[in-house]
Amino acid sequence: MQTVSADVAVVGAGGAGLRAAIAIAQSDPKLSVALISKVYPMRSHTVAAEGGAAGVVRAEDSLAHHFDDTVSGGDWLCDQDAVQLFIEDAPRQLTQIEHWGCPWSRTEEGRVNTRPFGGMKIERTWFAADKSGFHILHTLFQTSQQFDSIRRFDEFFSTDLIVEDGRCRGVVAIEMRSGEVFLFKAKAVVMATGGGGRIFPFTTNGAIKTGDGMAMAYRAGVPLKDMEFVQYHPTGLPGTGILLTEGCRGEGGIMVNKDGYRYLQDYDLGPPDPWPRKKAMELGPRDRLSQAFWHEMKKGRTIDTPFGESVYLDMRHLGEKKINERLPFVRDLATSYVGADPVKVPVPVRPVVHYMMGGIHTDIDAKTPIDGLYAAGECACVSINGANRLGSNSLTELLVFGRRAGLGAAEAARTAGDLADAGVEAQGREAEARIAAIAGRADGGETMAGLRDRMTKTMEDGAGIYRDQALLADTINELADVKSRLGRVPLRDTSKVFNTDLTSILELEAMVEISETVAHSAIQRTESRGSHQRLDHPKRDDDAFLKHSMAHRQGDGAPRIDYLDVVITTSQPAERVYGGAAEAKDAKANDGKAA
Ligand code: FUM
Repeated sequence: MQTVSADVAVVGAGGAGLRAAIAIAQSDPKLSVALISKVYPMRSHTVAAEGGAAGVVRAEDSLAHHFDDTVSGGDWLCDQDAVQLFIEDAPRQLTQIEHWGCPWSRTEEGRVNTRPFGGMKIERTWFAADKSGFHILHTLFQTSQQFDSIRRFDEFFSTDLIVEDGRCRGVVAIEMRSGEVFLFKAKAVVMATGGGGRIFPFTTNGAIKTGDGMAMAYRAGVPLKDMEFVQYHPTGLPGTGILLTEGCRGEGGIMVNKDGYRYLQDYDLGPPDPWPRKKAMELGPRDRLSQAFWHEMKKGRTIDTPFGESVYLDMRHLGEKKINERLPFVRDLATSYVGADPVKVPVPVRPVVHYMMGGIHTDIDAKTPIDGLYAAGECACVSINGANRLGSNSLTELLVFGRRAGLGAAEAARTAGDLADAGVEAQGREAEARIAAIAGRADGGETMAGLRDRMTKTMEDGAGIYRDQALLADTINELADVKSRLGRVPLRDTSKVFNTDLTSILELEAMVEISETVAHSAIQRTESRGSHQRLDHPKRDDDAFLKHSMAHRQGDGAPRIDYLDVVITTSQPAERVYGGAAEAKDAKANDGKAA
């Protein structure tokens, strides 16, 4: 086992991890940073984000509007102190990355351009055409290269956190090109490993998003918060699940069913006459749009495609010039993957798992309950997203809280004093032995792919857009059975170099653990809120469930779920109208004037 010592280890080199590393390096150049990533940084999933990042910039917008849209969009499950901090810092962080080189699209007058996104009262999504994630990631990556104190470990697969005397002291990882196990000793660790959408069969998430970091923290004793809240994005391409950005609808695209009917007018997506739209329609929030698709499907009004039921996203009326300028990547994707050029024909789309609102429990400073351990980005739950994330808040979230996690970890490392290493090394050797034991397993007749398919299928069947007690109970039983068979999957490839058989087994173990937290948190939340819709409990129940669920690991058994109060500061729970109490007030005031 090789050992590397650093002041801070950052696990994950996507948007949140790079932002954290930059914050550490800027705050104190003397602190050494080990930036560990299972892929080359520019392949992190941030690169796939299309539509943009939310932050108040227009004169007619306000921080209060961004706050209200986020809190009401999250069905009041967001911690409002965290949301306040987030919306205040958002414009600063978006401006900062422009200064580092991010080419935000501009208006003809030269101002930062914005587009509307679902659930927003006023448009506030900054964008770089429809490749916003690519440009943000590129900007952060090139900025990180200014700092000698950041040492990169690309294509290192992290497996375990080391916790000694109640403090996080490092990470164990496999160097994929050699198969060697490394112990990264550190005084503080930042987890920035992304979400775990791959626990579902149909997702916008890249193959790397297997929830490894969530599972590492969970195994180390950190609860996973609000895991039942899984966001379906309404417009994924059938077959691949590739995202067609909400920007398509922000630019004016419409959704029609198999009869060419704009079906969203039949659904409750907002008050009848809010500012500035007659009805929210295509710019309603993601959870309600995905639920509307489910109802259309039940009514037999969707299109039967070889890759499942779909509806159409029609952008033809936007014209070729606008599509080429604002949505060039969308045109490319739709043409390449479903043979539908949006300039000429409507594009088939369907809801697809996109984002996990839940994750590693942190406080407002991105700190977990374990000293020295921080988390940010999709792997974390701080929580600003509540029961349903507002589109385009997540790119901003990884900047705001990635930076905050970096600053917290830097301070923790600076003030750590002398720490003994003996226990850390012993734990490293234990982790190495656990990895080696996988190679020695007998063939128990199971395959990684077979168990993974059973896991993803049961997650979709029981924990999809709509859930109920019986479906979730079946999913829980199926997951327990899958889990009991994991040890029977033999390692067929015993070579050292880029052993993806080994990493796939480790990823599957992580995915089953986090699937269990989703299913158990969901069965115990007997209400409907945001993305968690229970057919058998259709109403929101604030008396019982205005609370975060916290899934605690209990050895090899099922997780234990308990609850934590939501932080409410200024916005009392109310009926969910788009976007929120302030808009309802605005609408009323406007009505008054009209009268
Ligand atoms: O539709 C999109 O471009 C996705 C954005 C997001 O998830 O925030």
